[in-house]
Amino acid sequence: RILEVGAGTGSSTAAMLDGLSQSSDGEKMTSRIETYTFTDVSSGFFEKAQEKFKAHKNILEYRTLNVEKDVSGQGFDLQSYDFIVAGNVIHATADIKKSLTNLQRLLKPGGKLILHEGIRQDYLWSGISFGQLPGWWLGVEPIRQWNPWITPAQWDVILKEAGFSGVDLNLPDRQDPNLHTQSLLIGTAVEPSSAQPQTVIVTTTQSGDSELITALKSHLELTLKIPNVSAVHYLDLANTDLSKSVCISVMELERPVLSDLALTEYNNIQHLLVTCAGIIWITGDILTNPSFNMITGLTRTVRWERDIDEVNLVTLSVCEPRPDVNDLVSSIGRLYSQQFISTLTADKINGEYMLRSASFFSAHV
Ligand SMILES: C[S@@+](CC[C@H](N)C(=O)[O-])C[C@H]1O[C@@H](n2cnc3c(N)ncnc32)[C@H](O)[C@@H]1O
Repeated sequence: RILEVGAGTGSSTAAMLDGLSQSSDGEKMTSRIETYTFTDVSSGFFEKAQEKFKAHKNILEYRTLNVEKDVSGQGFDLQSYDFIVAGNVIHATADIKKSLTNLQRLLKPGGKLILHEGIRQDYLWSGISFGQLPGWWLGVEPIRQWNPWITPAQWDVILKEAGFSGVDLNLPDRQDPNLHTQSLLIGTAVEPSSAQPQTVIVTTTQSGDSELITALKSHLELTLKIPNVSAVHYLDLANTDLSKSVCISVMELERPVLSDLALTEYNNIQHLLVTCAGIIWITGDILTNPSFNMITGLTRTVRWERDIDEVNLVTLSVCEPRPDVNDLVSSIGRLYSQQFISTLTADKINGEYMLRSASFFSAHV
């Protein structure tokens, strides 16, 4: 199962299909590819590609995919591809680490990413031509301020940060280093380890088996493929190591806990906010009951106190009339995915959201 991103006019596709798809076995043509998913941010390339690759139509499918956006939200199954081909596309995105993280999530553990990229910033001809186009200047990373390409050593670092083994193989276009301008870089998606952050749903339900918790847990595990999801009662928080946990607090969906705190409640909630690796704190409707809005002030203070941790403390008020459990769970999943699975720049963390009529509202401009 192969996915190609930014397939465009299909030059990488042609090479892949020639190499892998059909091999002569006497009279019979055989293919080593089960499906080849040809994607691009724009569907404008598909008609020509369908014509160009019509001999392979039994294995090819055409879908739009923006590698900068959440991939599960675009209808792609996580951990479902053996290979991803990205020919001269990732450098054309704003945040390389975020794009690579999105691709990593689509690969099966052990799956390979085949990147074809320019690797020289000192070859100025490309900037003279492509620099006329705004897309050349999208990169947000300081190392890409003047040229979107980076070296194989820099790819190695970012690949590792995005959940890959790094650059396993670097195949240069020329052996002479003076003439080497492009590389094929191969990396492997690393199996999620048990050291991965845990996801903890904080609840006031002692057994942790309310309809919402059960649905949320199964959405996180089955749809978002998040391992290690557990439910913890809010009065057990102080006994739980939360330092690697992203928490989803649903306790204030039931009642405004913060506005009437007993000492034990305070101690547990303090431990949660001061030690967790990240949180989505969900409350009832702050428009009809201002007591639910105390978390907004509290998290603003905790963010100052924890600024060195770069912790992401997110709040979400669910307005009346409340969505049904399935809609609520999928909205929470979307927010979780955007905040804790995608890689966010510093200005995108610590959001304060309101869910109203199936739309997210934010206080950020
Ligand atoms: C330089 S072309 C490379 C095309 C093709 N891979 C090749 O090697 O011939 C870059 C391609 O990436 C696509 N692209 C740009 N930004 C993208 C994004 N965010 N997600 C997916 N594709 C994107 C463009 O539409 C374009 O087709």
